[in-house]
Amino acid sequence: MRVVPRLDGRAYQSRFDELAATGMDVHGEASLVRSFGPQTVLDAGCGTGRVAIELARHGIGTLGVDVDDSMISEARRLAPELAWATADLATLSLGRQFDVVVLAGNVPLFCAVAMRAALAASCAAHVRAGGRLIAGFELNRGYEIAEFDTACREAGLGLEDRWCSWDRAPFTDESAYSVSVHAR
Ligand SMILES: C[S@@+](CC[C@H](N)C(=O)[O-])C[C@H]1O[C@@H](n2cnc3c(N)ncnc32)[C@H](O)[C@@H]1O
Repeated sequence: MRVVPRLDGRAYQSRFDELAATGMDVHGEASLVRSFGPQTVLDAGCGTGRVAIELARHGIGTLGVDVDDSMISEARRLAPELAWATADLATLSLGRQFDVVVLAGNVPLFCAVAMRAALAASCAAHVRAGGRLIAGFELNRGYEIAEFDTACREAGLGLEDRWCSWDRAPFTDESAYSVSVHAR
């Protein structure tokens, strides 16, 4: 279910291209995901494919899914050899599971409030036994971390770790960002 204005994939990607051109590491999410040694990753809410493309560059099998055509078009333009799908995560049922499902870049905050639990449950359902759901999003923006934890728990996943950044800075009660690892 779309709740944000239509995104512009080219403009979204150009922001990251500009940051990368300054020497900034724009692959913190992919680095953390890679540290778990996955062979397969579902990049859930992949946008223009920043995370999936970097993971694939390291030999990991990826599928990028996003509800926004403009974002997926840009991902396909950047990496036509990779697998992309336009679909709503809240109702996604791929019939397969992954070593890691990653939600990078505030994905739940771009989803309708009423569909956020379904989005988390659906993403969790695509995690294989022993696999992980890794999600990073800002706090204090109307989606409580407890809601996400509850949706994960109800979908059979337990909280394994939580940081306030993709490079594993400690999470505290004052943290404005959370990176959560839930395991099945
Ligand atoms: C800020 S972008 C992050 C893109 C990418 N993960 C990254 O980190 O660069 C958030 C993305 O979540 C996607 N999204 C939000 N709700 C979604 C849903 N229900 N199903 C699929 N994609 C969704 C949006 O279309 C958008 O591309």
